[in-house]
Amino acid sequence: MNSWQGFYTGRRVVVTGGLGFLGSNLAHALASAGAEVTILDALVPGCGGNPENLEGTARCCRVVRTDIGEMAGTAGAIDDCEVVFNLAGEISHGRSMTEPERDGELNTAAQLRFLGLLAHMRPGIRVVYAGTRQVYGVPLSLPVDEDHPIDPVDFNGIHKYAATMYHMLYSRLGQLDAVVLRLSNVYGPRMALNVPGQGFLGVFLRRALLGEELGVYRPGDQLRDPIFVDDAVEAFLAAGAAPVLRARSFNLGGAQALRLDEIAEAIARAAGTESRVRFLEFPKQDKAFDIGSYVADWSRARQLLGWQPRTDFATGIERTLRFYRERWETYLPGAGSLWETAPGR
Ligand SMILES: NC(=O)c1ccc[n+]([C@@H]2O[C@H](COP(=O)([O-])OP(=O)(O)OC[C@H]3O[C@@H](n4cnc5c(N)ncnc54)[C@H](O)[C@@H]3O)[C@@H](O)[C@H]2O)c1
Repeated sequence: MNSWQGFYTGRRVVVTGGLGFLGSNLAHALASAGAEVTILDALVPGCGGNPENLEGTARCCRVVRTDIGEMAGTAGAIDDCEVVFNLAGEISHGRSMTEPERDGELNTAAQLRFLGLLAHMRPGIRVVYAGTRQVYGVPLSLPVDEDHPIDPVDFNGIHKYAATMYHMLYSRLGQLDAVVLRLSNVYGPRMALNVPGQGFLGVFLRRALLGEELGVYRPGDQLRDPIFVDDAVEAFLAAGAAPVLRARSFNLGGAQALRLDEIAEAIARAAGTESRVRFLEFPKQDKAFDIGSYVADWSRARQLLGWQPRTDFATGIERTLRFYRERWETYLPGAGSLWETAPGR
């Protein structure tokens, strides 16, 4: 039995960024658990939001289209909420390097205004924030635990860390009860495969489904521990329901550490298309904010949240590919006919 079993039945919860990849998967789980879900999302151009991500939850989810930093739209939507899952944000590291001010607006300024309003209207409320492993920068050793030094290598990491500290500060002041989950790369259904800058896993999945080459930057042996989205959602649900965790951060990683070339090979194989893996030179502008290998130490989450990743990579990828194949008109328009003859179909 889950630690949060029964907790969400009839509970009023808010999911910011709930039209995006992670937020919408969380909204589905909350709706299934009987929660009354309010989603705040501005459908920011260039982010991964898509109203179709909520297909099947219409009766349980109310969507308020607003920037979380705008008081007028946000105040009425949070006035009676009991738990907040704060996932609104921009995830693109590359775009943060070319448009740092845009990233700062979305990941810090809007967050600061939102948290101030929340602390005022719902003092002491539990907020679970979607943080990122990127705050650690280049790992000094593996696996990375929560005491690893903070040294982000891009603007996105800096801004996400500032927002993390806003959550921590409001908690220390006793005005919010925030928990931060620092996520490794997440993958699964409802990623915006057609939107640039959503991470290498989305690129690999799209290209593999289309039968295109998967480019792996040399040397290709960099480690990652991708988390299947259902496992990430489990961590959010556990963190939202856990008793007194004030101002704690938790690293979340996947069930396996794999090399980039292994990840690419596994996706290409599972797609069953003509897709092949090719090694490429690391583009200079991307190399500048590469973190090398990363593997999370998630033992704190296991101890205090009773959480651990359960989905091995092969299983997660198979479920992910099945999802997109069944909904290619929404997520990969024009691609369906390619698979009629694919061997893995
Ligand atoms: N996907 C990952 O691998 C990953 C890894 C680490 C951290 N995270 C964090 O998890 C969160 C969700 O990521 P995702 O992959 O679902 O991204 P996503 O782009 O799919 O979803 C983010 C959603 O937030 C919305 N949004 C952004 N700024 C907003 C604002 N100011 N007001 C209202 N809505 C706003 C966007 O419109 C979008 O729908 C982000 O905060 C991200 O930093 C994700």
